Amino acid sequence: MTERPRHDPVLLRRVLELLHPALADRPAVLVDATLGLGGHSDALLSAHPQLTLVGLDRDPNALALAGERLARHGDRVHLVHTVYDGLPDALVGLGLSRVDGVLFDLGVSSMQLDVAERGFAYAKDAPLDMRMDQTTGPTAADVLNEYSAGDLARVLREYGEERFAARIARAVVAERDREPFTTSARLVELLYAAVPAASRRTGGHPAKRTFQALRIEVNAELDVLRRAVPAALAALSVGGRIVVEAYQSLEDRIVKRAITDLARSTAPHGLPVELPEHAPQLRLLTRGAEVADETEVAANPRAQSVRLRAAERVREAP
Ligand SMILES: C[S@@+](CC[C@H](N)C(=O)[O-])C[C@H]1O[C@@H](n2cnc3c(N)ncnc32)[C@H](O)[C@@H]1O
Repeated sequence: MTERPRHDPVLLRRVLELLHPALADRPAVLVDATLGLGGHSDALLSAHPQLTLVGLDRDPNALALAGERLARHGDRVHLVHTVYDGLPDALVGLGLSRVDGVLFDLGVSSMQLDVAERGFAYAKDAPLDMRMDQTTGPTAADVLNEYSAGDLARVLREYGEERFAARIARAVVAERDREPFTTSARLVELLYAAVPAASRRTGGHPAKRTFQALRIEVNAELDVLRRAVPAALAALSVGGRIVVEAYQSLEDRIVKRAITDLARSTAPHGLPVELPEHAPQLRLLTRGAEVADETEVAANPRAQSVRLRAAERVREAP
């Protein structure tokens, strides 16, 4: 059997379909806020010959690889090295004020997971890094070696939804006093010892939640997302569309709230007629969150946890 391509863009057909009405047959602008390897963007640029792409990523390696892949689209492609809450500044830098589409495909790319040295995967012993942008900021090892037991427990509880957060935090502090953490194998070993075997049957690999929590903390993922989605919605022109693919419930909750808040009327209760300024700014394009079907999940395990939400701006922001 031949090996499956490693970077299949998740729910690609659905993303194209949802963005089509906002991008087709006009000189539209799309922001791909999580360019990654450019899989979604490549397909969108091919589908819409007049489309201009603004591709953002905080990972310089991803930008370099996507840049090569998208080179055939010439000057329709603008790549910006930024955390995605820098979207408004990126647009100003390009002389743009409004866009017709925004795509977020959250999380790490398969490329980041596959490069063991980046420390995202717990299956291989590797440096505890986990920074999406390796040019800046503290690493996962810094968090483990420097945070107080209380702060570590909070990170594991809030970002990993880890039941044994306090117990793991105590074990980490005891272990680092012997020797600071540098690579993942020692942490994984500690987690095997700290997480009761009985909980593995329901909770999956004992390292899964701790690794997710460290990654979110190292990259301030949730805080950044809380700023970025409203900024993206504010940049959408009327008729413009946003599509967000989230892979864990903490992110999906932030996305859901930001989108549904603007899809509601703000008319005070009991007002007989809705004034224009109270009308919803967005129309939801998905009922709840959409998931991938079995065929896609079988072909692309990354699609297993995807939750896709989409909306269209129906009136200007006040
Ligand atoms: C799942 S991948 C995107 C894959 C892409 N859709 C494709 O088809 O190739 C997510 C990308 O978003 C980037 N990323 C994650 N969080 C980010 C943030 N806060 N700001 C900017 N880029 C971010 C990651 O570095 C990664 O390259």
